Amino acid sequence: MTARPRAVVLGGRTGLLGQSLVLALRNGGWDAVPVGRDDVDVLDAERLADFIDKASPQAVFNTVAWTQVDLAEEHEQEAAQLNRALPASLGRIVRGTGMHLVHLSTDFVFNGRKTTPYSTDDTPDPASVYGATKLAGETALLSIAPDNCCVVRTAWLFGPGRRNFVQTILGLCAAKDDIQVVHDQTGSPTYTVDLAAGCVRLAELRATGLFHVVNAGQASWCELASEAVHLAGLHCKVHAITSKDWPQKAARPAYSVLDTSRFTEVTGIVPRPWPQALRDYIYKDCIPSGN
Ligand SMILES: NC(=O)c1ccc[n+]([C@@H]2O[C@H](COP(=O)([O-])OP(=O)(O)OC[C@H]3O[C@@H](n4cnc5c(N)ncnc54)[C@H](OP(=O)(O)O)[C@@H]3O)[C@@H](O)[C@H]2O)c1
Repeated sequence: MTARPRAVVLGGRTGLLGQSLVLALRNGGWDAVPVGRDDVDVLDAERLADFIDKASPQAVFNTVAWTQVDLAEEHEQEAAQLNRALPASLGRIVRGTGMHLVHLSTDFVFNGRKTTPYSTDDTPDPASVYGATKLAGETALLSIAPDNCCVVRTAWLFGPGRRNFVQTILGLCAAKDDIQVVHDQTGSPTYTVDLAAGCVRLAELRATGLFHVVNAGQASWCELASEAVHLAGLHCKVHAITSKDWPQKAARPAYSVLDTSRFTEVTGIVPRPWPQALRDYIYKDCIPSGN
């Protein structure tokens, strides 16, 4: 009997994507090792190298990041530790070994001034500290370990296991008659279950370079919220407002739809439309958040 391939999933115990990745790996016949804060200090490069060495995986997935976009504006150093220094350390750990690393990044590396989907050839120009630190992490990793890694940019995640935009909206709508949601930011809503399957495929192929992996189609936050409310059968009016009516510390791209053609070319996977993925989430997995 051949041994199952093993994967270490940083963020796999509690992260929104990390938990879906652990499930996707196990469903795909992998031995998945979920990693949380109590398992190893990911910012201690030596301990992290030792931990990964002991697990001796074929693949490492990094979903750990400073993901609080607004808070990053005031915590640049801490955000940079997780978003730039950690992927750089991981690059040094996997470089020249038999291990393959799949590292997650974001649509927020783009400034949002385009009006057609961003391809992996488009030049990034982040508008926030979060986006800038994530871009610095991608760049460092791809220069340190180009033959042992790929970077997966994704966006607007919803899925089981952790609070997310869709769950928050459904929680609010269960308690209120109407809500207001921003309608002048357009992006690529993405189901963590679909994204996780795509990331596992990239690891199996040991794909290298940059990929965009999101569900097909586009939406504003208001459109995503309206569709979720409709699917959940809630009677709550969703009012469209502008970003000016909903001030946030960090700038968001007005448009950050991602073009997944390189992902499809390499894997053969054509991502399904986000409304179809949203139905799966709401009918099967979503427990509305009460707060
Ligand atoms: N969510 C989105 O809409 C979105 C959009 C675009 C790109 N992305 C990217 O996708 C990836 C996954 O995002 P996600 O939404 O799954 O993130 P998430 O739910 O916020 O999970 C982040 C994970 O990192 C862990 N973590 C944070 N700080 C840590 C630290 N100092 N030491 C150890 N672990 C730490 C968290 O652990 P605790 O639970 O213990 O805090 C959690 O497991 C990230 O690279 C993110 O930038 C996400």
